[in-house]
Amino acid sequence: MKKILVTGGTGFIGSHTTVELQQKGYEVVIVDNLSNSSEDVIDNITKITGIKPTFGKVDVADKQQLFDFLKKNQGIQSIIHFAASKAVGESVQVPLKYYRNNINGLINILEAMKEFNIPNLVFSSSCTVYGQPEKLPVTEQSPIQEALSPYGNTKQINEEIIRDFVKVNPELHAIALRYFNPVGAHPSSLIGELPLGVPANLVPYITQTAAGIRECLSVFGNDYDTPDGTPIRDYIDIIDLADAHIAAVQRMENNKQKKQLEFFNIGTGNGLSVLQLINAFEKATGVKLNYKIVGRREGDIEKIWADTKFANEELGWKAVAPIEQTMLNAWNWQKHVSGIK
Ligand code: UFG
Repeated sequence: MKKILVTGGTGFIGSHTTVELQQKGYEVVIVDNLSNSSEDVIDNITKITGIKPTFGKVDVADKQQLFDFLKKNQGIQSIIHFAASKAVGESVQVPLKYYRNNINGLINILEAMKEFNIPNLVFSSSCTVYGQPEKLPVTEQSPIQEALSPYGNTKQINEEIIRDFVKVNPELHAIALRYFNPVGAHPSSLIGELPLGVPANLVPYITQTAAGIRECLSVFGNDYDTPDGTPIRDYIDIIDLADAHIAAVQRMENNKQKKQLEFFNIGTGNGLSVLQLINAFEKATGVKLNYKIVGRREGDIEKIWADTKFANEELGWKAVAPIEQTMLNAWNWQKHVSGIK
């Protein structure tokens, strides 16, 4: 059985990826510092798959902790590195937290790959590296633009750190997945997104409004240059996103890479406006959402969606979940968390 380290494995994307990995026969070892998640997630993963992943409460930004853990957990062949701080707004307020956590974390992971002979890395990057692209859909060759936040900057810097490090370490391989907007939840409703406090992202705000936790969803602007005036994003189902990581790991395991470091856009290829997403939610759940149009949110880009040709052809991966199903899963998860029947 192939052994794989998932950092940030109790988080939103990490937990779903762990489930998919286990169901495909991988032995998963998780490290997480639980700064934005809870150990209960391990129990819920176990409920879904029947297999308890090995878990260590480890901060990857602490090299000693990480290395001590890896000394006791040898034989890992690949790392999927999710562990990072991810709140865009907070990163503007406390930039050093983001540079410290996200950059030290990656450096320690790269050093661990050398020290413990772990050849393969999947890095979780973001479409934020493209800023507002001039041409849509956005391909992997689109120019990287100046980051709009310290969070986005850590993604750009980390891609560069990986590039420089693999160049001088020919035995190492890496794939950076540039996610578009991950949404949804596991169909079992046992794992999902658990934002702390008031959600900054659209889908948790929608589901919390529908659940009565928030009074009204504010739609940030309807004067953009889009068909209905609201911004467009590429919303990717969390299970589809999780599966992209497995395709990336397998590509490296099977020596299919064309370059030592490759980049893939992970989206659906379809752009949806905020109002279209609200419609999909209402249609899928039968719940009418209370929302109002307000002014634009600072720093928001107008429109972005992925060209997924490269991922479809080279990774042999494609997003398949219909958006209504994704929204229904997100709602069922919210109902589970809020105790709504
Ligand atoms: N939106 C609202 N109301 C809300 C929340 C969001 O109208 O209460 C709108 C935003 O204006 C935007 C869309 O919903 O048009 C999506 O917003 P999110 O905050 O859900 O997602 P973003 O596209 O702003 O950000 C996401 C990730 C970031 C990542 C970025 C890359 O959350 O981590 O994509 O573009 F950096």
